[in-house]
Amino acid sequence: MSAPDGRVQELLSAARDAMERGSYAPYSNFNVGAAVLAEGEVFAGANIENASYPMSVCAERNAVAAAVNAGKRSIDAVAVVTRADEPTPPCGGCRQVLNEFGPDMTVTVESGAGDRAVWRLTEILPHAFGPSNLGK
Ligand code: THU
Repeated sequence: MSAPDGRVQELLSAARDAMERGSYAPYSNFNVGAAVLAEGEVFAGANIENASYPMSVCAERNAVAAAVNAGKRSIDAVAVVTRADEPTPPCGGCRQVLNEFGPDMTVTVESGAGDRAVWRLTEILPHAFGPSNLGK
């Protein structure tokens, strides 16, 4: 399983660029980059922490925000990269935010060494609460 049109490598590269360039993580020292494929275009983001810790924003949510700010409303795939030893899955809050724009998306995560894991969002966020629960 991989991102549509075999664009997973492009997404991973964009996510890694975002991590290297944009991640601001002086508190956790855990740098994360993410990229989404939204209506054929790639949008990336990195985690941005804050001295008021709860105000920190994950890489995935910043990538989603970039896509939505550009007018996109449908996401087919997300890639997430870190420098960790193991591929790191998106946190629960980010799974919820991703679900809003692409419940069927693929999720590809890569470790620092390039080890990968791939899921469908439905596998890692079963029984999601989403727009249909509000009649949307
Ligand atoms: N983080 C992400 O950017 N995405 C996730 O899915 C998990 C966690 C960030 C938040 C924080 O800046 C750092 O990783 C440690 O939790």
